[in-house]
Amino acid sequence: MTPTDSTSRLPGFYKQSLAERGQTVAAWAGLSAAQLAALDGSGGLTPEQAEHMIENVVGLHALPLGVAANFLVNGREVLVPMAIEEPSVVAGASFMAKLARAGGGFHAHLTAPEMIGQMQILDVVDPAAARLRLLSEKARLLDLANQIDPVLIKFGGGARDLEVRLLDDSPIGPFLVVHLIYDTRDAMGANAVNTACETLAPTVEQISGGRVHLRILSNLADRRLARARVSIPVDALAFDDFTGERVRDGIVAAYAFAAADPYRAATHNKGIMNGVDAVVIATGNDWRAIEAGAHAYAARGGRYTSLSTWAVARDGALSGTLEMPLAVGIVGGATKVHPTAQAALKLMGVTTARALAEVIVSVGLAQNLAALRALATEGIQRGHMTLHARQVAIAAGATGALIEQVAGRLVAEKVVRSDRAEAILRELTAGGA
Ligand code: MEV
Repeated sequence: MTPTDSTSRLPGFYKQSLAERGQTVAAWAGLSAAQLAALDGSGGLTPEQAEHMIENVVGLHALPLGVAANFLVNGREVLVPMAIEEPSVVAGASFMAKLARAGGGFHAHLTAPEMIGQMQILDVVDPAAARLRLLSEKARLLDLANQIDPVLIKFGGGARDLEVRLLDDSPIGPFLVVHLIYDTRDAMGANAVNTACETLAPTVEQISGGRVHLRILSNLADRRLARARVSIPVDALAFDDFTGERVRDGIVAAYAFAAADPYRAATHNKGIMNGVDAVVIATGNDWRAIEAGAHAYAARGGRYTSLSTWAVARDGALSGTLEMPLAVGIVGGATKVHPTAQAALKLMGVTTARALAEVIVSVGLAQNLAALRALATEGIQRGHMTLHARQVAIAAGATGALIEQVAGRLVAEKVVRSDRAEAILRELTAGGA
């Protein structure tokens, strides 16, 4: 079985044991024993490998790795690895992906893997004239940039464009900024872009007559936008006493709150990032870069707002969209050296950065829907509490079967607190003590 010819619907997956789940996904995606070991925690990154990644290494830091089922992205069945410590996220994504199947799943695309490198030019005598001189030398500068990395050129990447901006309301007065637009293909691209900016700087100084100060990529990767849309038939939204129309309209009203209010938009977008970051981390990508890009993009109009939209379609379906910068790669950096990241990519069946971004933006939209659906109906705490209760039970010292017993009592009593968990645990273990 491969990810393309088998369904990502895995009924009862959540009820399987930890070991069974590993076997299920390994069989589903054709993982090798080493790849499965990288996912199930018996293998994966070693301290010796970590030693070569950062400084002063003393060990490793682990996170739970879950797999979200049910995703259909651009007609392709996908199992999604998610590294996250927060309960409800994996379940929420899986559940919404299941609902989305009724409307054909998620449709996603990436604009282009183009990053922006910035060069700040100070001490320019006549910035307006220098700007035009730089623009008139665009071809020479792009040519120079394209000599740096023949491998990138071979794969169809390289310098695409050069823009020159005059920033005139800075605290130190006007200065010029060059933007080098650089197609980094399957790489996130920070190294390639930073190298290109540093290489171009002396020539930019010559042409502008100024001094190039900063040379660094921008995380506002608004030339590398990932977009996803989903349509959910209204009937698929109904549950318990809630009609589909009520759920749908509640979600649209919840979105309107985020669209109009930065205080709500921050939380709304945080819910999107719950899904996005979990996949970004599982695949070894730079989640700080993705966070920075997302929030800067959300504020691009001068007021921070929602990254997603929700509306009622002509046929009455709930229609959602998400658009955000997504600078993720599958080559270079931790993506290449981290065995779990490699296994995560294999599980997803993605072989390009574009396909990875398309899955991630779909997960972000699913996660947003999960949060809004809960908030607009029964509230977030009910689903949250069951899972949160388990963590509280573990923190109180419960192990094995006692975890579920203590958590079950906490939820039934609607008191999910550590002191109560400790008391229940004492009670349950009193006989055997
Ligand atoms: C919690 O991690 C995320 C939510 O707050 C998102 C939202 O409010 O939309 C539930």
